[in-house]
Amino acid sequence: MDDTIVKVLEELEERSILEKIRKVDVLPEERMLAITKETGELLNMILRIKNAQNVLEIGMSTGYSTIWFADAIKENKGQIFTIEKNPKKIKRAEENFKKAGVSEIIKINQGNAIEILEEYSKKQEFQKFFDFVFIDADKENVVKYFELAFPMIKNQGVIVTDNMLYPEKYREEMKKFSNYLKNHQKVNTITSPIGNGEEITIKISD
Ligand SMILES: C[S@@+](CC[C@H](N)C(=O)[O-])C[C@H]1O[C@@H](n2cnc3c(N)ncnc32)[C@H](O)[C@@H]1O
Repeated sequence: MDDTIVKVLEELEERSILEKIRKVDVLPEERMLAITKETGELLNMILRIKNAQNVLEIGMSTGYSTIWFADAIKENKGQIFTIEKNPKKIKRAEENFKKAGVSEIIKINQGNAIEILEEYSKKQEFQKFFDFVFIDADKENVVKYFELAFPMIKNQGVIVTDNMLYPEKYREEMKKFSNYLKNHQKVNTITSPIGNGEEITIKISD
């Protein structure tokens, strides 16, 4: 991995821990809520195994997960389309991307994820476009995000969803999502205990 990217990821990991243990003063809606380092490593590995190019992220925050993706796809002429509603987090993410040297491959969409995905869905160029989708925004809409993203994912594309197991307050929503996937005829799926519990789903047909 590129030394500059490693350095930025390490700084963000430190910051994330300080926020979690409340050692830095930050408003609840401005907290990073980042994936764990192990999850970053797992997702980076999946992207590399797939030789992925086009990535869609729903829930960017300050861009920690996005930088893990950028590292994996940057040599493939890949692009990341990422969605975030909070302008303050977007500003922090932009600074982080600049420091990591990955700004040019990341397109940030500011706004409500459902509305943005509905707009994307209308575009012909996004049909079966993405190799990898990461779902990590509000948990009430997780099924809706999956359904909106599904036609935009290539066959054999991978969808990863965070927070399947932790924090416990999301268990009920995530259980519904898990049941939805188990009954889905066009995917194979597995829940990994890495990080906060990562659902790894592969699209097997349209
Ligand atoms: C768990 S954080 C994402 C963490 C990020 N993936 C990482 O690992 O660094 C979830 C983010 O989704 C954003 N979000 C929540 N609901 C949203 C919505 N409806 N539309 C757009 N963004 C949303 C929140 O502002 C928050 O920054």
